Amino acid sequence: MSSDTRAVPSGSQRGLDLEVVPFGQLQIAFDRHVLRPRDWTTAQASWAAELLDGLPPGRVLELCAGAGHIGLLAVADNERSLVSVDIDPIATAFAAGNSLAAGLASRVQVREGSLDAVLGDDERFALIIADPPWVRRSHVAHFPEDPLLAIDGGADGLQVARRCVTVAEKHLCPGGTTLLQLGSLAQAAQISDFISRHDRLRISEIRNFPHQGVLVRLDPTEAVR
Ligand SMILES: C[S@@+](CC[C@H](N)C(=O)[O-])C[C@H]1O[C@@H](n2cnc3c(N)ncnc32)[C@H](O)[C@@H]1O
Repeated sequence: MSSDTRAVPSGSQRGLDLEVVPFGQLQIAFDRHVLRPRDWTTAQASWAAELLDGLPPGRVLELCAGAGHIGLLAVADNERSLVSVDIDPIATAFAAGNSLAAGLASRVQVREGSLDAVLGDDERFALIIADPPWVRRSHVAHFPEDPLLAIDGGADGLQVARRCVTVAEKHLCPGGTTLLQLGSLAQAAQISDFISRHDRLRISEIRNFPHQGVLVRLDPTEAVR
């Protein structure tokens, strides 16, 4: 795969820091402009893949996709189509290249732009995967190797996460579900407070990966079922 130049976004061909790492059964290309794929996040992809077996027909939406690996791994072994979104043009170039390298390009649409600006009002998804930046702005200096755009979650770390949840409230199809990545159980509690104000989503399960992150499943409430 590393010798397959179709998988390498043109902007990166200038750089010397291109890397290709395994992510599940996929090979994922990235460089220092995007977040390095973290091994533990295969858990978000495999949980998503498990859920897809029982969800209604429909596409998967991945918000804050970076190099695209979590969403790609989620749909690699099924027939679902994936819409992969990131605001960073380098990230979207990697996501497109990685989908091509994985042989999934015909089922993957990559959209570049802010997560709440690239979806049509009437678009609905069976599963939404979201991996927003979740580091508090006051702490981002502790992660000098990571691109600021990938980690800066604003004052409380949840600025982009709340926008992801708002997208999920609007764009889930009936019977659909959302898997949101956060930094801690405390952040999950804050998100729980936030969604309870709208009564459209509720947290149905939390999986904690100590010192790494937290995965939160959000299902529609009775009010919208
Ligand atoms: C924590 S990184 C996750 C990337 C990837 N999922 C991973 O595991 O490496 C967050 C991503 O969100 C993107 N991002 C930040 N703000 C965004 C926004 N408003 N709309 C869409 N993407 C955004 C960043 O460019 C970055 O790629």
